[in-house]
Amino acid sequence: MIGAGKKRRIFFALLIGVCVLAVGAIYADLQIGYYTSANLGSVVQPAPPRLQTNGVYSVAAYPLYTPQLVPGVGRQDAAAYCNTCHTPSYITMQPPLPAATWKAEVDKMGKAFGAQIPTGAQARIIKYLETHYTPETRKH
Ligand code: HEC
Repeated sequence: MIGAGKKRRIFFALLIGVCVLAVGAIYADLQIGYYTSANLGSVVQPAPPRLQTNGVYSVAAYPLYTPQLVPGVGRQDAAAYCNTCHTPSYITMQPPLPAATWKAEVDKMGKAFGAQIPTGAQARIIKYLETHYTPETRKH
């Protein structure tokens, strides 16, 4: 025959055991991952860049190369006309050349390569090259 006090102790022991199991079950349930289809393919992407809705946009200044040509009469012509096919640095890249060679060089650009340089500008360029880029006159 089990006494009433012992019954109560067994009841409370069982109650505590059930509570521990219940708490454990709830905790285990929280740890489970749910892989439902709602999560599939939902990779988080950064916000796409906002596109301009009008045609207005800005760019920086075009990086024009400034030739390091010696200042002087004809420099403007050389910088403009000797810039069409190649950089005018072709002038400064050369060793100091005799005046006749510069004239031949400018003539060659027109005759051999088809440079379209007005006669006046051509004369000024030749004079400019002879004044600044010969062995006698070239400073740097
Ligand atoms: C129609 C195109 C054109 C123009 C304009 C032009 N050149 Fe040239 N130049 C060339 C070509 C092509 C070459 C040879 C290929 C290369 O080296 O790029 C050349 C080469 C040169 C060279 C290197 C040496 C040589 O004979 O190959 C010099 C110096 C030169 N040019 C000077 C000038 C000068 C000064 C002017 C302005 C009066 C000028 N060029 C204008 C096309 C041109």
